[in-house]
Amino acid sequence: MKWVWPKLAILAILCSPVPSWGGSSLAASVRNCTWCHGTGAQGYTVAPRLAGQRSLYIEAQLRGYAAHIRDNPLSKQYMWGAAANLNADTVRDLADYFASLPPKTALDGHRALVERGQAIYLQGIPEANIAACLACHGPAGQGIREIPRLGGLSYFYVKRRLEEWGQGYHSAPMSPMPLVASTLGPDEIEALASYLSFVR
Ligand code: HEC
Ligand code: HEC
Repeated sequence: MKWVWPKLAILAILCSPVPSWGGSSLAASVRNCTWCHGTGAQGYTVAPRLAGQRSLYIEAQLRGYAAHIRDNPLSKQYMWGAAANLNADTVRDLADYFASLPPKTALDGHRALVERGQAIYLQGIPEANIAACLACHGPAGQGIREIPRLGGLSYFYVKRRLEEWGQGYHSAPMSPMPLVASTLGPDEIEALASYLSFVR
């Protein structure tokens, strides 16, 4: 009878729409997220893409929502509740799962601003104290550890986040982003958000 259990386990993996590491409870949790974050977690209306996002970043943000540290209006409205009752194992499993999905590129920014956005992303604007985003987010916007992937995120989402930091909202303890964003004017924000929406 020894072989029966491994076979059942394999069957369970094959039949499950998401990996079974967290058991069926993970599949249920994923559905609680994708009805807002869209099919394949590629983002839908105001809910951003989670597919391909860095696992440690997703975990950190979920903890931040649960602790009400990320405090902009849409976070309060949608994510404080969604993150309220997740235990540490579920948070890690969800983060690993969404990070493993292949991300699609939003392609929804202004093409004419891509060149300017790329220049700011790569070099910053030293005379205006604007930091080069590449220094932390990597040359291809891929992120590292808890620093998020930016490449291919929706123009509307990135624009709003950069504006909200400038308005004094928070997202993570010790985050450099409120300071970084406070140096950006509306034109730089438009250009950066446009560029990033086309990065693969
Ligand atoms: C009712 C809709 C809704 C549900 C359900 C929901 N989300 Fe969200 N989520 C949002 C919105 C809207 C935002 C954007 C908030 C903001 O702008 O700060 C967001 C943001 C996030 C972010 C931040 C992403 C980033 O790039 O910073 C993460 C991580 C996240 N959600 C994970 C989840 C997970 C995991 C679940 C399921 C347990 C979930 N969400 C369920 C609507 C939802
Ligand atoms: C000193 C390091 C550093 C620099 C420079 C930096 N960032 Fe960030 N960025 C971070 C960290 C850390 C986070 C995650 C913490 C947070 O969300 O507050 C983040 C988060 C973000 C997010 C949120 C992504 C999401 O999924 O919600 C955006 C957008 C962003 N940065 C854009 C930029 C842009 C544009 C620049 C250049 C003008 C830039 N960053 C420069 C460190 C940096």
